[in-house]
Amino acid sequence: MRKKIAAGNWKMNNNRDEAIALVEGLLQVAIPDNTEVILGVPYLYLHELQGMVSDSQIQLAAQNCHQEKSGAYTGEISASMLKSIGIETVILGHSERREYFDETDELLSRKLRAALDEGLKVIFCCGEPLSVREAGEHVAYVKKQLTEGLFQISEEDLGSVVIAYEPVWAIGTGVTASKEQVQEMHHEIRKMIADNYQPSVADKTHILYGGSVKPANAAELFAQPDVDGGLVGGASLKASDFGAIIQA
Ligand code: PGA
Repeated sequence: MRKKIAAGNWKMNNNRDEAIALVEGLLQVAIPDNTEVILGVPYLYLHELQGMVSDSQIQLAAQNCHQEKSGAYTGEISASMLKSIGIETVILGHSERREYFDETDELLSRKLRAALDEGLKVIFCCGEPLSVREAGEHVAYVKKQLTEGLFQISEEDLGSVVIAYEPVWAIGTGVTASKEQVQEMHHEIRKMIADNYQPSVADKTHILYGGSVKPANAAELFAQPDVDGGLVGGASLKASDFGAIIQA
């Protein structure tokens, strides 16, 4: 039985005081037993916020990491640095990283390897832009992203990966994919996992939906048979909204 995961992605939002206040607010939320809560926060706050959540059910994630372990890469953060401050999870392959920072499937496969080699868990994002959806090629597009970026890892390593399906046209737009569109893609992703590994692996893998998840639509989306929770951007910035999504 897969648990539910409510993951927040703060992106480049919140100054330090706001970050602390938001975590204080979330520490008041009653988290259901079968639910895991993960906050993807800016690198800068990881260490301090880790101290705040260490006795709680809330975990933190980084929003990115570099593909090398160390070296002359000014401004970058490695998976081993994250590990060294007690961070256990990293988000990789978000569409904003793919689009604005030119992260290709090939680069992402190297970042994934670096993160897994440090023993980190990975939330691996995929999802098609609007033009691809309108052309009806969304399943093939996501299949290519996962085949080139993710499916080269072993079955054992896949146990450390959560997949997040985030159609680009639904991210930050207020437009949410319908529950039918979400279920269709999640079902297809599960089939891809079964084809590349085994049906039992597909059954165990968590697949999150992301793209304008809010308190009003979370319960309906999370109730779909192949949806195991959400990766939430805008609505994760308010404790009351994200609290409602955690409890959805
Ligand atoms: P959104 O972002 O919830 O603001 O649409 C989701 C994401 O980018 O992970």
